[in-house]
Amino acid sequence: MTMTPAELRDRAFEVLRENDRGTYTVPTKGLYPFQWNWDSCLTALGQRHFDEARAWTEIETLFQHQWPDGMVPHIVFHAHSDGYFPGPDVWNTGRPIPTSGITQPPVAGFAVRRLFDQAKDKALAAERAGRLVARIDAWHRWFYEARDPHGEGLVALLHPWESGRDNSIDWDEAFERVPTEGVQPYTRRDTQHADPAHRPTKAQYDRYIWLVERFRGLGWDNGKLHDASPFQVVDPGFNAILLRSAADLAALADALGETAIAAANRARAEKGIAAMERLWSDAHGQYLCLDRTTGTLVQSPSIGGILPVFAAVPKARAHEIARSIERQGERTKYIVASHDPTDPRFEPKRYWRGPVWLVMNYMISDGLRAIGETGVANHIVRSSLELITQSGFAEYYDPLTGEPCGGGRFTWTAAMVVEFLSAQH
Ligand code: DGY
Repeated sequence: MTMTPAELRDRAFEVLRENDRGTYTVPTKGLYPFQWNWDSCLTALGQRHFDEARAWTEIETLFQHQWPDGMVPHIVFHAHSDGYFPGPDVWNTGRPIPTSGITQPPVAGFAVRRLFDQAKDKALAAERAGRLVARIDAWHRWFYEARDPHGEGLVALLHPWESGRDNSIDWDEAFERVPTEGVQPYTRRDTQHADPAHRPTKAQYDRYIWLVERFRGLGWDNGKLHDASPFQVVDPGFNAILLRSAADLAALADALGETAIAAANRARAEKGIAAMERLWSDAHGQYLCLDRTTGTLVQSPSIGGILPVFAAVPKARAHEIARSIERQGERTKYIVASHDPTDPRFEPKRYWRGPVWLVMNYMISDGLRAIGETGVANHIVRSSLELITQSGFAEYYDPLTGEPCGGGRFTWTAAMVVEFLSAQH
C-alpha cells in the first residue's frame, strides 16, 4: 500500500483523535484504558500539529496527579475499567483520583521544551509552560532524593514497569532475586487484548505483582521503598531521558526567567552525564544497566544502552553507538531492535525483548541528528515510516519481518509518525 505523506499524516491524526478522552489520551483502547505518563508526554508532541492548546492540556492533566513528594505516577486511573490488571484496588495508593505508585521515564522536560520552542502561539506557550516548570523540577528533585540516596548522580528503577521496557532481558538476572511466594491470586487482562506470545510471561507477571504488593505494604512511602526493594537497577536509557529532560528544563527555565530552577537542573545534568561513564561497555559498543544490589554491570545489550545518545553523552560514545546500530542494520530488515539480534536471548516478537518501537526510534534519531550522524538518523526514520506503511500504527514491530505486534491503533506510534513527517517537510 502506498500513501502520500499527507495521507499518512491524516491517518495518524485519526488515531490520535480516536484515543482522545477530552483531557487525556489512552495509549490504545482495550489494552491500556487509562492515562500513562510517558505515553502522554510523547502524545502531546503529535497533538500540537493540529491543536496546541490540547497538547498542553495532555501534559497538564498528568501533572495534576503529581504526588505531594514530587513523584509523577506511571498510570492515572481517570475512569473505571474492568479490562485492565492491576487496577486501582491492587495499587491502593490512597490518591483522591487513583494512580499507580511507581513512575515512568521522565520525558516531560524534553517534551515541554519542544512544545515551547516550536510553538506557533508563543503567548499561550509561555503561559502553559510557565505553570509546568516548577512541577517538572519537583519531579526531577524527587528522583535524586528517592532513587539516588547516596548521591551517585544516577537513579535506580525499583520496578521494571518504571523503565517502560517491562520485560527487557536487562531485568532477568535481577528478577531471579524477586520472590513469587505469597502473591495474591490474580487474572491477567493484557493477554485477552494481545497475543500472549508477544507479552511478558507468567513468571514475570508474578514478580511484577510481588513488587507492587511489597511497596504497598510499605504504604508507598518513597523514603523507604528504595532500600527495601530487592530490585534496584540503574538503566542507562532511563537516566539519559532524565538527563536530557533536566538539560531541556534548564534551557526552558532560563527562557522564562526561573534562574534557580535552571541552575539546579543544569547541575543535575552535568553530574549525571559524568556518572554515566560507569555504565559504558567497550565490549558491546554501548552502555549497560548497573545492578545496584550487586554493584555489577548487567551483560545485556539492549536498546536501553543505545538510548543515551538522546542525552549529551560524550560524542565519541554516541558515534560508537551509531556504528553499533549500523551493524545491527545488516542483520535486521528494520531498525532499531530493542535487543541486540546477535544475542541468543533475542525474541523478535516479544514486547521489549527484540521488537522495534517508534518512540525509541524517535529519541535515538533525534540524538544522532544533533551530533551530525545524519545517515544513521535518516535510516532510522526511513525504517519507521516503512513499518507504518506496511503494518499500520501498531504498538511495536518484528524487526525481521515488520509484522505488527501488541495492541493496534496505538497513540504514541501515531504521534511519532506525525513528528517524523513534520521534520521532513
Ligand atoms: C502494562 O500493564 O503492560 C504496562 O506496561 C504497565 O504499565
